[in-house]
Amino acid sequence: MSDHVILDRIEELRRQFDAELAQAASLDTCAAVRDRWVGRERGIITGEMKRLRELPREDRPAFGQAANELRNYVERELNAALERFGARARELEIARGRVDVTRPGFPYALGVEHPIKRLQAEIEQVFISLGFRVFDLPEIEKEYYNFDALNMPRSHPARDSQDTFYFDETTLLRTHCSTVQIHAMKVMKPPVRAVSTGKVYRRDPADATHSPMFYQVDVLALDEGITMGDLKGTLEVFLKRIFHPDVRMRFRPGFFPFVEPGAEVDISCIFCFGKGCRICKQSGWIEILGAGMVHPKVLRMSGVDDERYTGFAWGMGIDRVALLKYEVDDIRLFFENDLRFLTQF
Ligand code: DAH
Repeated sequence: MSDHVILDRIEELRRQFDAELAQAASLDTCAAVRDRWVGRERGIITGEMKRLRELPREDRPAFGQAANELRNYVERELNAALERFGARARELEIARGRVDVTRPGFPYALGVEHPIKRLQAEIEQVFISLGFRVFDLPEIEKEYYNFDALNMPRSHPARDSQDTFYFDETTLLRTHCSTVQIHAMKVMKPPVRAVSTGKVYRRDPADATHSPMFYQVDVLALDEGITMGDLKGTLEVFLKRIFHPDVRMRFRPGFFPFVEPGAEVDISCIFCFGKGCRICKQSGWIEILGAGMVHPKVLRMSGVDDERYTGFAWGMGIDRVALLKYEVDDIRLFFENDLRFLTQF
């Protein structure tokens, strides 16, 4: 075989390679070209090298040299191409991750405070401004704090009106926030001004005005010489702040085992201002809370000298206030957590 036949063949392979590499438009296709040409097992160049042995001895050096040159050429070209594509891929990667600080941000929805929680905070704020200490008390409570110490022993019929979830003989879900009276007397010496708000639980089926879980606020003031007048004055400040500066109130006799005398307190209707409407059932008044002077027995049970000290207490449903204030007609709406409802506040 003459030299130029050998060189023609190599030259032809080189042209083929050039054409294939020119077609390769990405890092992947480039790598495929590399495997096809310089793959260790089946690469075209490796194949050519294997043919060396089939050639007449005198042709081998020229062919070997030409094939080696071809391989060097192919490898050089491939490396350069791979390098080019690799650099381009890296640039794209960087460009993709680049932050465009001029782009408008994504809008994200802010949550809203639950209307009951907001009212709860508002109520606490009124008492803080009056110098009351806020107690955060357990919802899982000892029967003693919820009932016995409030002059409601186990046999007391008043317990029936607060149908209770019990855990065991002596542990229950508190049925009211009046537990603050006992907790406060335990940790404070008179003068005591204490308030607590939070969830309470009763075994009531849910309907428009009842829920097995609802919110209350309860208050205790205890000192020498506290009278019904202090109760009225403090209540008036509170009710005017929460409802309306022009709101009026009236006391009716009421029975609660832990106060004597006890009172049911009404406010003038905040919708018709006392003229009579659907909400106040034409009476002009809305029943809003229970209050009274702390029963001497309650003071004595907590170790307070009932000859020296007197106190007032009152308790109110926060959800009920929310229903009135926000003109909602079903308490269940507050606990269903439907955002269409909650975002209106
Ligand atoms: N704890 C009572 C209830 O849940 C409400 C109440 C009435 C609280 C009179 C008081 C009070 O502090 O003096 O029904």
